[in-house]
Amino acid sequence: MNHDEIEELISADRLEACVEEMGREITRDFADAELHVIGVLKGSFVFMADLLREIDLEASTDFLGLSSYGNSRKSSGVVRMDQDLTMPIEGKDVLIVEDIVDTGLTMSYLLDNLRTRKPASMHVCTLLTKPSNMEADIPIDYQGFEVPDRFVIGYGLDYAEYYRNLPYIGALTSQETADAQ
Ligand code: IMP
Ligand code: MG
Repeated sequence: MNHDEIEELISADRLEACVEEMGREITRDFADAELHVIGVLKGSFVFMADLLREIDLEASTDFLGLSSYGNSRKSSGVVRMDQDLTMPIEGKDVLIVEDIVDTGLTMSYLLDNLRTRKPASMHVCTLLTKPSNMEADIPIDYQGFEVPDRFVIGYGLDYAEYYRNLPYIGALTSQETADAQ
């Protein structure tokens, strides 16, 4: 991987400190709940793995797969469920774990969809938000970092399925230059 073409925005150390803090907050807030953590694939898998290990509670877990982007960097606005949950969520205290809330269209679709399955409660945890793009009014309960209006990669976030394995959050400088031309 050519790191020269990637501008680091959030270091691995800052990510780690943030995830630890979020885990502490969630542990405190869900102490008396029946916590069911749902990771939104694929982008959340790295964050989810780290966050779960900072939650000191008996928690069940599941995943679902959504896509709205295809291989492009602009939201298509159309959300598709690629993979559904494996368990019912009725009566559970659901915590949705997402990599990034950008326009909010994906989370809005997901909240509407899961609400029909009658969870006891639903909360949203996202590592990143891009406030400048927000179109939907999403209640975010736990949020790590705000990022500027740039396409970000790493720590689970991809560009055309690459860069998920970067240990930090960065932006692709060469792609942005290409876009401007
Ligand atoms: P939204 O529907 O616009 O909020 O987009 C949400 C989904 O798009 C996220 O779950 C990500 O998977 C993806 N996404 C949005 N912005 C970025 C980005 O800057 N880098 C990588 N993926 C992104
Ligand atoms: Mg995602």
